[in-house]
Amino acid sequence: MTLAPSPRPDLTGLAAYSSVAPGPVPVRVRASSNEAPGALTGPVLDAALGAVSRATRYPMIGGADLAAALAGAWGVDAGEVAVADGALPLLDRLLLTYLRPGDEVVMAWRSYEAYPLSVQVAGGRSVPVPLRADGSHDLPAMAAAIGPATRVAIVCNPNNPTGTVVPWSALSDFLDSVPPDVLVVLDEAYTEYDARQRPASMSVPALAARGNVVVLRTFSKAHGLAGLRAGYLVSSVEVAGAVRSVLPPFPVSSVAVAAALASLAHPSVLAARVASTREERSQVVALLSGRGVVVPDSEANFVWLPLGSRSHEFADLCRGHGLLVRPFADEGVRITVGDPDLRAVLAEVLATWE
Ligand SMILES: Cc1ncc(COP(=O)(O)O)c(C=O)c1O
Repeated sequence: MTLAPSPRPDLTGLAAYSSVAPGPVPVRVRASSNEAPGALTGPVLDAALGAVSRATRYPMIGGADLAAALAGAWGVDAGEVAVADGALPLLDRLLLTYLRPGDEVVMAWRSYEAYPLSVQVAGGRSVPVPLRADGSHDLPAMAAAIGPATRVAIVCNPNNPTGTVVPWSALSDFLDSVPPDVLVVLDEAYTEYDARQRPASMSVPALAARGNVVVLRTFSKAHGLAGLRAGYLVSSVEVAGAVRSVLPPFPVSSVAVAAALASLAHPSVLAARVASTREERSQVVALLSGRGVVVPDSEANFVWLPLGSRSHEFADLCRGHGLLVRPFADEGVRITVGDPDLRAVLAEVLATWE
């Protein structure tokens, strides 16, 4: 027997980030990963293709061109921005930078499934705080869960997988109550779909100015660039700088940068995608409630069916109709909306669901 090097013992048995495998019939609608439907077109596609032809060259170091554009768009200093190949890699780096072994990360649960994995990899300990019955964050309970070992709290707003949002006033109270040495990550991966007006006190610059708040955003969802990988965070110069210092020198590809810059420069493309997704969402909610399936109010590009112990049964039924959805055992099923073909397939499924 050969002796192989051992990984860190606390990482053995790390749960895998799951994805949904296709079923016995061809996939008709993929509604399992909260991606934007359809294909890239227009100026964003042109920009990405143009960048491919220039891909013999490295991108700008640190993604400086994308960081500068984002700083301009949000009215913050470029030093307050860090960019990378997605929001999740940025969260990973943030946790690696700030967690010492055994430090606690308070999070609502259920929330984005990657959080506990990222915390474990960074050597921390997740402290899950149950969602309220309506699927929303229980911010007072999260505040109460913050103790001397807490270093980070994560608020996913809108929440994946329930689609619920926290009222701005409740978020403001929560942020006021968190000790200044605890970082609060506001994961806003789906914020573009949130139709609510954002008060000035919750604007990106106002949040970053708090010093211990990190606004985490992605180009993977409403911007439709999941396959290219680009995300960013906005925070204080100190926090953003600390994360930048542990990122690789070229954290985001030149093709992703070109597409992201084009998406920022053509907001009408994003607005049209968001508007059509919201319209699809209300039609899907109406279809579901017409069949007696009530879902929490969603401000994201997905809806949450709290089907409990029947979640896998429903997901399997969907798969049999060529519809990929995301089940969470004994909890519920998340269905991504936006694809105009979803309703017809879902109606077929619901017709056979008792
Ligand atoms: C809440 C939330 N945060 C972050 C991410 C990851 O985004 P990215 O593709 O930018 O890494 C996702 C992706 O599903 C998500 O749902």
